[in-house]
Amino acid sequence: MDKIVIEGGYPLEGEVVISGAKNAALPLIASALLAGGVHVFDNVPDLVDIKTLLKLLDYMGARSSRNGKRLEIDTRGADKCEAPYDLVRTMRASVLVLGPLLARFGQARVSLPGGCAIGARPINLHLKALEKMGVKIDLEQGYVIARVDELKGAPVYFDVVSVTGTENVMMAAALARGTTVIKNAACEPEVAALADYLGKMGARIKGAGTDTIVIEGVSELRSGHYNIIPDRIEAGTYMIAAGLTGGDLFLRNCQAGHLQAAIAKLREAGLVIDVDSDGMRVRRNGPIRSVDVKTQPYPGFPTDLQAQMVVLMTMGNGLSVITETIFENRFMHVGELQRMGADIIVEGRSAIIRGSGNLLAAPVMATDLRASASLILAGLVAEGKTEVSRVYHLDRGYERLEEKLSSVGARIWRVK
Ligand code: EPZ
Repeated sequence: MDKIVIEGGYPLEGEVVISGAKNAALPLIASALLAGGVHVFDNVPDLVDIKTLLKLLDYMGARSSRNGKRLEIDTRGADKCEAPYDLVRTMRASVLVLGPLLARFGQARVSLPGGCAIGARPINLHLKALEKMGVKIDLEQGYVIARVDELKGAPVYFDVVSVTGTENVMMAAALARGTTVIKNAACEPEVAALADYLGKMGARIKGAGTDTIVIEGVSELRSGHYNIIPDRIEAGTYMIAAGLTGGDLFLRNCQAGHLQAAIAKLREAGLVIDVDSDGMRVRRNGPIRSVDVKTQPYPGFPTDLQAQMVVLMTMGNGLSVITETIFENRFMHVGELQRMGADIIVEGRSAIIRGSGNLLAAPVMATDLRASASLILAGLVAEGKTEVSRVYHLDRGYERLEEKLSSVGARIWRVK
């Protein structure tokens, strides 16, 4: 298993180009199943999760080819309506094929994703919504067996905001008979990006990006071409890296509009953030101020930046309370940070961090994607050489992380 070693204490300076958004690319790739044809996506990040989903589509009979950041997916040959456990368990977003398979083929056999480090991650709300649209759902040996003669548009209400739940229903509804109204829909930019592409395919969708989405089913869709939005979580991670190391970074190709809550909170914490047409300049001006954070569905502070924010607050000038409201077990990074000398206690859904201004290098272990990113950030400021193991978690969601960090002055390298 690879390890990443970081020697702390070097301010990051220079320019980082932000890659395409993982959490936009995944539903977009799944949506290619809705219409047999050649779908073309640009600005596709080179990530393990993308490779995993393409392996799944390949298993179903689709064919894909990559040329740099361009991805072409030919779904004319897709006819196997199954997502096996060994593929789904490594990447739960595979559940995103459920809606498209039902819409195009009227059937699907998809493994239940199972939990992961950050929580049980059920898909009960996806299934409840699909049943409202006429889908018959059985659960057998850990698989969802779903069948429907004709998907019907229906009013769907999500008890809790679900990003992939909203995306699954939107894709199924695009080819249903009649109108679907999704209430308490996820407002994430990645949901709006998917709706954009579905619109290019011929779907009739209004309200994506708000909490009420209206989809008028059509009889068929056709393949199209889409340029993927930048990854706001990757951008937020580098913003925090600039603040932590006292550096000065220009983040190219990121959309400040997708990061309003994070920008407001980081400015409160003492970062100077200048937004211009093709990116953001982020640096630190004076000490880091301890601030309180509460993760919320978009447009609130993103849960995917919570672990990174905890690291920044270890450098704060007082007490910070960070509350995680989305997932039930997303403080796995705290134990590892405590090994680096961080003064943090977890009380229920909150982490209370007493800023101390210094972390000490230690061997630490990554547990999930964003926790591993936070350990890399801690290594950038800890005294000495920090070793992060199980970095395969990182490769799922960050494109060429050590390359991008070294190019702006970090002392970081991968050990096979
Ligand atoms: C998406 O996951 C993202 N993944 C996650 O990013 C992100 O953390 C999450 O949204 C929240 O923003 C992708 O988009 C591929 P949810 P998703 O359904 O859709 C509960 C990363 O690091 N829930 O919005 O799986 C659920 O347990 C990943 O890139 C149900 O109870 O998350 C959670 O507590 C991690 N029943 C809450 O809702 C359901 O049927 C939000 O989950 C569905 C969800």
